[in-house]
Amino acid sequence: MATELKAEVEFNKVIRERHSVRKYDSAWKISEEDIKEILGDAILAPSSSNLQPWRFIVVTDQALKEQLLSIAYNQQQVVEASATIVVVGDTEAYRNAERISEDAVAAGYITAEVGAAMAKRSSDGYSKLPAAKLKEIALVDGGLVSMQLMLAAKARGYDTVPMGGFNPDGLRELFNLPGRYEPVMLISVGKAAVEAHSTARLPLAEVTHWNGFAE
Ligand SMILES: Cc1cc2nc3c(=O)[nH]c(=O)nc-3n(C[C@H](O)[C@H](O)[C@H](O)COP(=O)(O)O)c2cc1C
Repeated sequence: MATELKAEVEFNKVIRERHSVRKYDSAWKISEEDIKEILGDAILAPSSSNLQPWRFIVVTDQALKEQLLSIAYNQQQVVEASATIVVVGDTEAYRNAERISEDAVAAGYITAEVGAAMAKRSSDGYSKLPAAKLKEIALVDGGLVSMQLMLAAKARGYDTVPMGGFNPDGLRELFNLPGRYEPVMLISVGKAAVEAHSTARLPLAEVTHWNGFAE
């Protein structure tokens, strides 16, 4: 019980102290281990039919960061932060449906029968969806994993900034990104050099509608 309470306090702290940081200590190196731990937490995020369409391109190489800079419209955090993670979504994530179900069966989470039915439902259903819907799913799931990534980083003492301000064509070209992968966002991760300012939120009552919607 005491442990649960502590976890709750820490979660409150993490969500309240996360702010978008745009000035980073460029001398600070993030370890591969820390990046893997952050991404390991991030991929626990939920996704449509658990197809996990997210893919991450971790950019720590300075020369590559310089190339990314103009694609991100010269946002300095791209070169100053320890890493910038490019989150992309696989619009053909249903191709992994069988493997994901088999893993769940092997782990004993579901029976082989349920696993096979789930995999068939996902493969058949998603492969028939229009491209726009598959893109939407990849972006929604990509957003969820991105949020979890930022909170996981904050919980480990790192700061982040999500970026939608980038040229998608330039990004595709730089990483030879095949067409089925949809860029979601860039996330710079590092040690803050200047603390971020707080940001205002609209009143909860204004953004919440109970049991219906009225403008
Ligand atoms: C999808 C998305 C795209 C964003 N793009 C940028 C960006 O390109 N550059 C930037 O400096 N901040 C960007 N931001 C950060 C927002 O400006 C920031 O989250 C917002 O002002 C609230 O501040 P906070 O993150 O400190 O709570 C983006 C945020 C989101 C969610």
